[in-house]
Parts: sequence; structure tokens; C-alpha cells
Amino acid sequence: MDIEEALELADDLTFTTTGQQLDSLQKSILRGAWDNQKYREIAQHNHRSEKYVKEAGFKLWKLLSVALGEDIHKSTFRSRFEKWIASHISNSGNCVQIGNDNINLCGETWQSSEVPRKRSSKTSQNPEPTAKQPRLDLGDAPEILTFYDGLSGIGKTALTLQLIPEIQHEFDYIIYRSLRNCPTLKTLQTNLIKFVSQQQEIELPSLIEHLRSSRCLIILDDLQTIFTPRQLAGHYQPGYENYGTFFKQLAESSHNSCLILLSWEKPREIAALEGENRPCKSLQLNGLGAEAGEIFREKRLAEEEKWSQLIDLYRGNPLWLNIIATMIQDLFGGSVSEFLSYDTLFLGDLESLLHQQCDRLSESEKQVISWLASEAEPVEISKISANLELSPSALLQAVQSLGRRLLIEKVKQGEKTLFTLQPVFIEYVKNQFLKVG
Ligand SMILES: Nc1ncnc2c1ncn2[C@@H]1O[C@H](COP(=O)(O)OP(=O)(O)OP(=O)(O)O)[C@@H](O)[C@H]1O
Ligand SMILES: [Mg+2]
Repeated sequence: MDIEEALELADDLTFTTTGQQLDSLQKSILRGAWDNQKYREIAQHNHRSEKYVKEAGFKLWKLLSVALGEDIHKSTFRSRFEKWIASHISNSGNCVQIGNDNINLCGETWQSSEVPRKRSSKTSQNPEPTAKQPRLDLGDAPEILTFYDGLSGIGKTALTLQLIPEIQHEFDYIIYRSLRNCPTLKTLQTNLIKFVSQQQEIELPSLIEHLRSSRCLIILDDLQTIFTPRQLAGHYQPGYENYGTFFKQLAESSHNSCLILLSWEKPREIAALEGENRPCKSLQLNGLGAEAGEIFREKRLAEEEKWSQLIDLYRGNPLWLNIIATMIQDLFGGSVSEFLSYDTLFLGDLESLLHQQCDRLSESEKQVISWLASEAEPVEISKISANLELSPSALLQAVQSLGRRLLIEKVKQGEKTLFTLQPVFIEYVKNQFLKVG
């Protein structure tokens, strides 16, 4: 397969999915990706900004991923297309099959059967229907511009959106909603029912009945916004308590659907419902490993042998690493050793991000992390207790709540469980809480 054939296939897929053919920038992005060019080079070639081209690229990968039912991005486009075409060309007649169902992208529904199909000479005039394609509504989903391999640590939103092309054939409907504007449960349910009830002959009265009659994947992101700040983790804001009942109902009643919740704080009913043989599971994302080096490579940092130290200090968090890499480039011309030579851990723009998280803590949690930040080594709960004026139950609740926010790290030492803070939070707490007074 050469790039011209790949462009022809991509053009077919785009046309089938959106009714429009590839524009010249999209073709140029595909050519560039085929030749392993950087977005910067493609941007220069097209006299556009790198950001503009990256955004166009992201939309294109999302579209092709949905159309092919496979996860496609810039670095995998060539291999996936070559592999896909090899496995879909039948010996008898070079028949390329493209998804044939309804696809709803960013709120616009295209019924491919209604769209006149442009077919290349390489494709069959009468393609067989393919594996099912779900209805998708990702209109609310953020755009993720760059991806690096490695599932050991990835942002919650990024990982979930990345997962969709891989599992979409399992579902009839997939819907992503961010709760960042705090919709009431009623508003959310009405919105979900509207989406999953399209084209159904019988109107079903409740969401749970829709979830029984179809297989749906509902992704609710930014759940923490419906929890009360400055209280222990997972307390719903007044008026939002019914979300808890809804999650419990979904976990305990029988239906065919799945719900993915993305949150800074674990809802308390979920903590009580999960277990090995139970339908409710939680996944705590760890940071990226060595693959985070791609972030540094892109930011042109020097001294690759020191990168693992940085990844460890910032716990492989891709967003933090991006911010820190920018700072290293801006202040030290990319020299990692110069950055590391200072005794303090620089936070820079990270400080405001950490502030958003720490500002949600209750008073007792603040006391615990302030004290932990002053300890050089991980400590047992009894030692925390001896040094703070908190009742035993208030202390245990505070430590448990910090665990549900993933703000403290547990360290096993023989039989004992010790607690500590991540280096970044130690630095933040020292700067913020301890400077007062
Ligand atoms: N594997 C990865 N490789 C490179 N960049 C990544 C990776 N995963 C996430 N990112 C980038 O890191 C940033 C944070 O990711 P994401 O938004 O998914 O985090 P999140 O856990 O959803 O954060 P929040 O809880 O604040 O919404 C984004 O800019 C994303 O593009
Ligand atoms: Mg997110």
C-alpha cells in the first residue's frame, strides 16, 4: 500500500462518515504522518500555525478512529492503515468494507445509507454490512492533541477517550458528558434519555429501562464538581445527593450497560460497592513511566539520562511533566541537571493546579497534610495522631478521605502501613500552609 491508496481509503472513510471529502490540509496531515513528519513541519509546509494543524489532526484521527473502529493517531496511522487494508482485502475481489451504520459525531448525525457513497475503483460496489458501529455522542469531550504509547499512566479523560475506538463495537450507544457545569440529575437523565431513545418505537419511561433494552456506555467526567469543597471527600453538594442513589441503582440492578465515572474524589457509595466479584471496580491511574520521555523529547530537553529522575519526582503525571518541561526550557535552556541542582522542587505554573485540589480539603485534612509535609520519612497513623489535636475518629476519617483523593501515598513496611505525601505536594504545602504564621 502506498500513500495514494491510503489517501483514497481515508477519503472514502471520511465521506462515508461525514458526507464530506478530505480537504487539502487533512490530506497534507496524512501525507506528513505517513512520512513520520512532525506537526511543526506539516504546519510550515501549509503556512499554518502548529496549534491549528494539531487541532485539525486531532479531529481527523478521531474521525478515522470512529470510521474504522480502530484507534488511529498520527504515529499509528500508517501501520494501522496498512494492517487494516491487508486484513480487509479479500483474495477474491479486493473488497474493502467500511462501517455502514449511523454515526453521530459532535452532535451531527449522518446516516450513511442516505449519503451518496463515493467509491474508489478499489472498493466493492456492494459492500457487506460490517461489525456494528454504535451511536456516539462525544460532543462534550475535550480534544486530546498528543498521545504516547503506554497505559501505565495516562490522564483519566485522555485514557477514556482513547479507549472508545477500541471498545465501541461492544455498545449500541456511547455518550460522554462532563459534569463541570453541575447539571442536576434530572437534567442529565433527560439529556441521556433523549440520546438513547432516538428511533425507538416504544417510549421507555426511565433511563434504567433504556439501559436494559440497549447496551450503552455512559462516561461521566469531572464528577468532583458535584461534591462539596472543604468537606471530606465524596460529600454531594446539597441538591445532588440523588446522584449517589442513581449510581447505587446502576451498580445493583440488572441491565446491559456500563457507566464510567472520572473523578478527583471517589464517591462514597462506590467505595462501598466495589469488590473482586462485584460489578463495580475502580482504577487508580499511576503516572507514565519511561514513555514520558516523549514529552521531554518534544520539548527538546537535554541530558536524557536525568529524565527518569524528573519523571519520578513528578510521579509521571503527563500534565505536570509538560508544565515542568516548559519551565526547564524557558529558564534553563533545556538543561535538566541545572533544574535539578536546586534544593527546592520548582512548581511554577503547577502551583495553581495544586491549589485547585488542595482548596477542596477539609480543615482536618489540611492539618494532616501540613504535618506530613514536615516529616522527612513516611509515618504510621499513630505518629500522626500523637502530633495533632484531632480525635482518633476525625484523624482516621481525614486520612481515609485524603486516600480517596489520592493525595497521600501508602508505603508498606513489613506489616506496617506508613503514609507520606508526594514530593510535589510536600513542596506545595510548605509554600502555602506553612508560610502562614
Ligand atoms: N499518555 C499520555 N501521553 C501524553 N500526554 C498525555 C497522556 N495522557 C494525558 N496526557 C496529557 O496530559 C494532560 C492531562 O490529561 P487529562 O486531561 O486526560 O487528565 P485528567 O486526569 O482527565 O485531568 P483532570 O482530572 O484535571 O480532568 C492533557 O493535556 C493530556 O493531553
Ligand atoms: Mg479530565
